[in-house]
Amino acid sequence: MRICLIGCGYVGSVTGVCLADLGHEIMIVDTDASKVAQLNSGKTPIYEPELEELLQKNHKRISATTDTHTAVLNSDITFICVGTPSNPDGSINLDFVLSASHDVGKALRDKSGFHLVIVKSTVLPGTTAGPVKDVLEQASGKKAFVDFGLASNPEFLREGSAVGDFLKPDRIIIGVADLRSKQVLEELYADFTCPKLFSTIPVAEMIKYVSNAFLATKISFANEIGNICKKQGIDTEEVFKGVGMDHRINPAFFRSGIGFGGSCFPKDVRALIARAQELGMDPKILRSVTEVNEEQPLKLITLLEKHVPDPRGKKIGVLGLAFKPDTDDIRDSRAIPIVEKLLQKGATVLAYDPMAMGNFKKIFPTVNYASSAKDILAADAVLIATEWRDFEELDYSGKIVIDGRRVENARKGSVYEGVCW
Ligand code: UGA
Repeated sequence: MRICLIGCGYVGSVTGVCLADLGHEIMIVDTDASKVAQLNSGKTPIYEPELEELLQKNHKRISATTDTHTAVLNSDITFICVGTPSNPDGSINLDFVLSASHDVGKALRDKSGFHLVIVKSTVLPGTTAGPVKDVLEQASGKKAFVDFGLASNPEFLREGSAVGDFLKPDRIIIGVADLRSKQVLEELYADFTCPKLFSTIPVAEMIKYVSNAFLATKISFANEIGNICKKQGIDTEEVFKGVGMDHRINPAFFRSGIGFGGSCFPKDVRALIARAQELGMDPKILRSVTEVNEEQPLKLITLLEKHVPDPRGKKIGVLGLAFKPDTDDIRDSRAIPIVEKLLQKGATVLAYDPMAMGNFKKIFPTVNYASSAKDILAADAVLIATEWRDFEELDYSGKIVIDGRRVENARKGSVYEGVCW
């Protein structure tokens, strides 16, 4: 198929490149001309393992442009993959989605054959068949589900393993309201052997939020239990190993630590809370998930103060700034509140991350950055905020180590405190 994707962030780049690898003709559209040029020169605008190799391997089938009109006219389907950032009240900002819909709609006005528009951006129930449909219809002068197709197809990619997640998904969720759109999507995903769930459009949109909210809930639950375990001298990881053996529970996403970050869980839980409140409800569990997650990173500071009672003037090393290993992404990284708190307390922060220091410098330009993980060990105490594999190789002997992510070798420190163990 000829496929157009609007937005070359994580979702657009990974989806486009993987679909090209499956043999489709791909056109990626972005308003940022430098990212478009990067893609056309065989470089991915984001860091994701395996992606650049796959882009170069399939370069003949992938082109990027800033011109939505031409891309839509020359394709059969369009995926909207732009970002949906948080508004200050937690609700999501649809500006990018609606502006992309407007441009696609304008192109559809000039297009004679059937075209399917699919929303892959994370949007709350009612968005695709509501504002997105309205904007598409207005700009095109055509009717959705009749003159052109419209569907929802949320993504479940994890940063750092997005290529594998796309090519071997647990399931594919497709929200449709008309037969033609359903048939096109059946054909597109025909070679995938995983379960495929066809639902209404709002159900598909809700599945995305509920999946992320449930995983975030598992993490906050594991952290709350981890805090209780820590006080009793019980190893919470051993506890969850046993708990996860129940097939009704499952062991995944029970790693306790300093909480969840990234561009999805925090934002999606906030958006679901905002939606519930709009509906006049008080989502108590979701609010607690966020509350536990806000408090959890600061537990590292409390544990630090047990051993370094006054961090003022002390050199405190922070190992790991990315929101998780294998990415340079620091959005909502748990290292952010930790570094903020250390600075507030007058500590001198020495930070290191194998990939994310460039991004971290943009928000913390005055922090000292080390050129290697080893250099961090010269600090008066070391906090571990991301579990990069390299951190297992360090020699922690003689150091004060406060571990937020369970780096086993760090237990060799002369003082070792795990946040939940
Ligand atoms: C998450 C979901 O896992 C994907 O399925 C989803 O598609 C994506 O959001 C999205 O909505 O786009 P991602 O944010 O890339 O993916 O990263 P995760 O691997 O889920 O980790 C999120 C955060 O949770 C990280 O800070 C990680 O350290 C933390 N985490 C994860 C834990 O603290 N404990 C765990 O057991 C697992």
